[in-house]
Amino acid sequence: MRMYDLIKKKRDGGVFSRQEIEFIVKGFTSGEIPDYQMAALAMAIYFQGMNIEETVNLTLAMVDSGVRLDLSSIPGIKVDKHSTGGVADTTTLVLAPLVASCGVPVAKLSGRGLGHTGGTIDKLESIPGLKVELSLEEFKENVKRYGIAIASQTEELTPADKKLYALRDVTATVDSIPLIASSIMSKKIAAGADAIVLDVKVGQGAFMKDLPSARKLAQVMVEIGRSVGRRTIAYITNMDQPLGLAIGNSLEVAEAIQVLRGEGSQDLINLCLELGSAMLVLGGKAKDKEEGKKKLKEALVSRKALEKFREFILAQGGEGRVVEDLNLLPQARFKESWLAKEEVYLAELPAERLGQVAMKLGAGREKKGEKIDLAVGLVLGGKVGDRIDKGKPIVTVYANDENRLKVALEELKACIKLSSTPLPPLPLILEEVS
Ligand code: URA
Ligand code: CA
Repeated sequence: MRMYDLIKKKRDGGVFSRQEIEFIVKGFTSGEIPDYQMAALAMAIYFQGMNIEETVNLTLAMVDSGVRLDLSSIPGIKVDKHSTGGVADTTTLVLAPLVASCGVPVAKLSGRGLGHTGGTIDKLESIPGLKVELSLEEFKENVKRYGIAIASQTEELTPADKKLYALRDVTATVDSIPLIASSIMSKKIAAGADAIVLDVKVGQGAFMKDLPSARKLAQVMVEIGRSVGRRTIAYITNMDQPLGLAIGNSLEVAEAIQVLRGEGSQDLINLCLELGSAMLVLGGKAKDKEEGKKKLKEALVSRKALEKFREFILAQGGEGRVVEDLNLLPQARFKESWLAKEEVYLAELPAERLGQVAMKLGAGREKKGEKIDLAVGLVLGGKVGDRIDKGKPIVTVYANDENRLKVALEELKACIKLSSTPLPPLPLILEEVS
């Protein structure tokens, strides 16, 4: 087999066999197939696509490029959750302790942020002392003892995906349905979960810009899950505006703690109840989603979920008192709001642009490996359709550099659209695919 012939085959619309896909993934992982050939193939796949069988084979070949985590010694049905990537997606920080407090073990490997999307691992690092680099043994031990662990993806799992993702990132081949589906599902399968709940983002701030392509991505991932015996449910959710009100690492940790205290933004709470109740059903802790939602609400009211978050923080070496005292999180030196001159309604909060403003303040990285500023970011005054009273903040900027703060405020004034008349809110949960 020659890589040249395989690139040509896909370029001309051919369909790969399992052996051909294994040859490609093995060769690329070991370095025998150079980046330039793999980049050409990724572009051919971008244009020609792959059928479901090819996508399943690609997923499994990527799983086999590394180790599989064996969680069978942990009692209970392990349910993993994954989002396809959005702006200010604070859900994992809420969901993990919330679901764990209801008895479903959460073993979550997460990534760092790149570009305008943030990563759970970066956010967690704003909790003083908290360790995110756990060995696989420590990780499993914590899930066994506390029912929860969140750690940084290790080198040992799906090295092929890691290498391919880095290449796609610089060759404009990220937003291909078979490549995204196999990338995400290979990591979930290697991480050992019995069941998977997926949050497929659609809209201005997501990889999938329209509902038909989001639906297709959701269907492909659900099909991959089914074909390898992992129950998988996907929710398609709106990413035209950021999730919740906070964008930025420590600001989002604070937002998550507020939700766990029973406060916080209603959209974030609703999404957590939707995804969380599906996790309880799959995990065998609720007979249907109604009962699941009831249990989750009880865990919020009784503060059981907040206590689980504290337990998780302590177990990973962090400062547990942050759940009571948000001032223990990194604080920005400068803070300035754009105030409403009169009563207005929020008409557009473009997720990607807002994510980029936060990134330029230092909350995200433009290139891999860059250091980020955990304290900076934005807090919105409301969601699309909300009224902002005269003199109240439309948005507040948190910065550690006065110049960057000025630039951010100007950019926000240019991209946030206001209306003098009321508008309907944007729907959040669009469809379920199972
Ligand atoms: N997230 C992933 O892990 N992989 C992709 O390809 C896209 C989003
Ligand atoms: Ca948020």
